[in-house]
Parts: sequence; C-alpha cells; structure tokens
Amino acid sequence: MFDRAESACAKLCERTDFVPEIAIVLGSGLGDAVDLDEEFSIGYDELGLPGSTVHGHRGRMVFGRLSGKKVAVLQGRVHFYEGHSSATAVLPVRVAALAGAKTVILTNAAGGIAPDFECGDIMAIRDHICLAPNPLIGPNDDRFGPRFPDMTAPYDPELIEVAKRAAQRCGFELKEGVYIQFTGPSFETAAEVKMAGILGADAVGMSTAIETIALRHMGVRVMGLSFISNKACGLAGKPLSHEDVNRESERVVRKMRALLAEIVGDIQ
Ligand code: HPA
Repeated sequence: MFDRAESACAKLCERTDFVPEIAIVLGSGLGDAVDLDEEFSIGYDELGLPGSTVHGHRGRMVFGRLSGKKVAVLQGRVHFYEGHSSATAVLPVRVAALAGAKTVILTNAAGGIAPDFECGDIMAIRDHICLAPNPLIGPNDDRFGPRFPDMTAPYDPELIEVAKRAAQRCGFELKEGVYIQFTGPSFETAAEVKMAGILGADAVGMSTAIETIALRHMGVRVMGLSFISNKACGLAGKPLSHEDVNRESERVVRKMRALLAEIVGDIQ
C-alpha cells in the first residue's frame, strides 16, 4: 500500500509543486463546502486511486488557498462498503499526508443519536468507535508508521477548541461527541442505533474512523466534523434515504463553508 500511495504522490508531484499544509475531506453532499482559490485539480483516477461510485462524491483533489493557507480539498471519498478494503479506502487521505498535509480535517454526513442533536447541527468528533475493519490490518509498513499507534486522543483536542471558537464567531454552537462507524451501506437498524447509543456514540456514519486511524498512524493531526443530516434510524419515525442526506447537506453547506474558512484561518 505504501508503494501505491507513494506512486500516487509521485504522479501528483509531476503535475504540480503545490505543497498543502492542510487537507480537507468533504463528505456526502458537501463537495462545495470550501471556497478555494483554485490553482490545480486532479482526478483520483489520474493518480491511480479508486474513484468514488457514490452520488454526491466527486473523486478529485483540488489545490489552492483558503484563508491564506495552502489547502488540498479531497472532494469525495471511497468507502469500505463500495467493495474496497479499509486499507484501500484510506489511500486518498494517505496521499494527501504524503504530499505534505500535516493537518487533515475530515467532514462527513452522519445520523444523530444524541437526543439534543438536531438536523443541521455540526459536531466536532471527540472520539470514535470503529466497527469497520481496521485499515492497518496486514503487515505493517514502517514507512507509514508504527505497528501499534496510540489512539488516546485521535482527534486533536487543541483543534477541537479552535473549531469551537470558530463556530462561535460564525454564530452557532458546535456540538461535540463520539462518532461510530458502521460498515454500511444499509443504514443501521433501530436496534443497532439503540446499541450505539448505549455504547456512548452520539452520531453514526460510514466513513471517517478508518481515515482517522490511517492518519494517526502517519502522525498527522486530525479534526473530524460531522454534520447531522438526519436523526438516526428509529429516532425520527420515518425511513431514511441517501437523497434525504444529500438534500440536508445542501441546506448546511453554507454553514460548513463559513466554519471551515474560519477554522483554516486559525490553524497554526
Ligand atoms: N447512518 C449512517 N450513515 C449516515 C447516516 C446515518 O443515519 N446519515 C448520513 N450518513
């Protein structure tokens, strides 16, 4: 996997000498949540990375400036449920890290479990529970990082404070909580959501925890932002659909855009 990530990074370096300080992964329906002064863009396919098959995920990297910082935006991601191994699904974020990003902001759409979460809320991820296969399973490649990476504070506590202050300036309160990753692609059952709540989860999704593991493996600072697109199964009294998730994303995209611009301006 290291060779594949390194070869993608080499292809990128052939095309641009742009070195991002920060990378931002945009989740479901959030593809336009960054107002980047675009300098260069490239499709995942051109880097030999798997493209996303999911509506609402574009599958390209865009490079440019945001709030004075050099940023790479990953528009769309690949998921374990698309049939890739976890190790393959995290390749795009690994490439962003190899290309220079020391901080990565992972965004996603998630179902709200905590009773006080409303649709449209944004939650800073404080910790996660990963029910998808760990992306580090298999022989360890020391060029990425150690065999047994520490996961005491996977989501950088200082960055959570930065995000809270940024949200205040944007005029809303940032929620904070635990994200649980199921494999998907079916949404969870009501019983699974009840279990997740008992385990301590506040929001549920299908992507971010494995990316965080891979990035912490590489020593990269991680911030996670879940936007609550729906109340999780069994809590809203109506069936869930991916269309509903995307529709809610469109409503929240401006709020996320303002928040990301503030956060990036503040990251040291
Ligand atoms: N469950 C899992 N993933 C999701 C959800 C959900 O309710 N909403 C958006 N992504």
